[in-house]
Amino acid sequence: MVMVLAFNCSPRMENGNTALILNPFIAGMRKTGANVELLYTKKLKIEPCIGDFQCWSKTPGKCHYHDDMPELLARMSEADYWVFGAPVYAKLPGELQNLFNRTMPLFEPKVVRREGSLLPSRKKEMKLKRIALVSSCSYWGIENFDLVVKTFEFMAKAFDARLSRPLLRPNADLLSDMIKKGENCENILKAAEKAGTQFAGTGIIGKDTSEAVQAPLMSLEQFLAENG
Ligand SMILES: Cc1cc2nc3c(=O)[nH]c(=O)nc-3n(C[C@H](O)[C@H](O)[C@H](O)COP(=O)(O)O)c2cc1C
Repeated sequence: MVMVLAFNCSPRMENGNTALILNPFIAGMRKTGANVELLYTKKLKIEPCIGDFQCWSKTPGKCHYHDDMPELLARMSEADYWVFGAPVYAKLPGELQNLFNRTMPLFEPKVVRREGSLLPSRKKEMKLKRIALVSSCSYWGIENFDLVVKTFEFMAKAFDARLSRPLLRPNADLLSDMIKKGENCENILKAAEKAGTQFAGTGIIGKDTSEAVQAPLMSLEQFLAENG
């Protein structure tokens, strides 16, 4: 059975826009029989890294903070797939950046050369194979996700895992309004669920599926007229 550790990284948690896509994505994964655990970074106690490298030198693999991270690192190490629901907060929500910084104990304190970059190598016991990114933003275009996607490409490379085709939902405030008004958004929500089934089933999210999730809800001209 595929073990998935999913994070909703929006401080707005279930009330946020990211959950609108993340939740059907998770439902799709569960349909395949995957064991999915969903955590909310806002509820986790994750102190910010203070950069003393104690987890690499004095006490290898252990940070001096006694917060939720040691337990979380054990779960991250056991999961086959990680899923991050990470909204664009120019560029990441603070809780997620703190989580990323505190994953240092998952790496050996040795640098290797891989795919043209100098990177630490992950611990041998880690099972991680794939990472999925689900994101939402307010503005109209897909380019608003560039920095978030780049960050996840880097994290996937550092963890020697595959980043699946991201699920990106621009103009997400409008999607939220439409759902609240009972307007038909089935195509988007069903595509998010299908993406979850594809990801947990084959590890590959189809191009058509991701395009259906990011389908425009209005023209750019209309967006600018309403928001400019
Ligand atoms: C601090 C902050 C920075 C943001 N920066 C951007 C941005 O650069 N581009 C954008 O399109 N939306 C930006 N947004 C809007 C969010 O990306 C958007 O509302 C998203 O859907 C929020 O997801 P959530 O409700 O799950 O938290 C920002 C929001 C916040 C709070």
